[in-house]
Amino acid sequence: MTRPLFPAARAILDRHFDVEYWNKPERIPRTELLARVADKDALVVLLTEKVDEELLAASPKLRVASTVSVGFDNINVPACTRRKIVATNTPGVLDETTADLAWALLMAIARRIVEGDAWMRTGTWPGWDVDQLLGGDVYGKTLGLIGFGRIGRAVARRAQGFGMRVLYQNRTRVNAEIERELRAEFVDLDELLRESDFVSLHLPLSPETHHLISTDALAKMKPTAYLINTARGAVVDEAALAMALEQKKIAGAALDVYEQEPKVHAALMSRRDVVLAPHIGSATIDTRTKMAVMAANNAAALFDGRRPPNALNPEVLGS
Ligand code: DGY
Repeated sequence: MTRPLFPAARAILDRHFDVEYWNKPERIPRTELLARVADKDALVVLLTEKVDEELLAASPKLRVASTVSVGFDNINVPACTRRKIVATNTPGVLDETTADLAWALLMAIARRIVEGDAWMRTGTWPGWDVDQLLGGDVYGKTLGLIGFGRIGRAVARRAQGFGMRVLYQNRTRVNAEIERELRAEFVDLDELLRESDFVSLHLPLSPETHHLISTDALAKMKPTAYLINTARGAVVDEAALAMALEQKKIAGAALDVYEQEPKVHAALMSRRDVVLAPHIGSATIDTRTKMAVMAANNAAALFDGRRPPNALNPEVLGS
């Protein structure tokens, strides 16, 4: 375990394994992790630890690699499959919480909440005036969701309360019943970028989605539009985003994730038209506890003679 996690998750692991926990406040150094996996049968990691060819080569006994995250770009799943190691993640339990955060960011950037808070704390606010901190309306506007899985759909549900038109782009079109229920229209990416007042990202990072939001994509957006990213940082070309903001191609961005975490592109740091959150999409007590318990169960299942419930490569388990 690269973090002690929460008592409920530790209870499961302690029942099944002789567990080695990394207890120090700092992240486990890579060399330390590589040394410690040598004799381990199961590994529970955070999204900040890479389970790649190097780590797999260093862990010849490993049978399961469980990440405490829904995103699994930290795990080389094909490499796990080649070595008959089950890779698992934690889908489902964080959808609403992450959608809440996307919504909070959307509201924060549109209504300039963070700028307002910073101003108040300087003690220089002169009192109400008619043209102070004018933002963008949310109610009745158009929301474009790129990625329409569980989290994208949870955001679409929130948009209904705000009388928004919802456009979505997804690898595959969802069925008509879901579209009707969420009043969501399937459009191509160009149309979504052109028409949306808010573009919110809810897709995994993969070679296909890397820098999907590029200079080109940003140029297609309205100058009054906002970008919200609670997915993965590298879906957005941060340098291109900083340039688009500088050139007023879009009105603002609210980000929870970054290309090179924990670094943030220097040109974004000082901008008032950017809201920056520290990757807290799923960060509530309930949700993080559920994720940790799920990850612990995923690791334990195999040694209990069960199929890990959230295997990313179930073919390793046979039928
Ligand atoms: C995930 O689960 O992938 C989030 O980024 C962290 O909760």
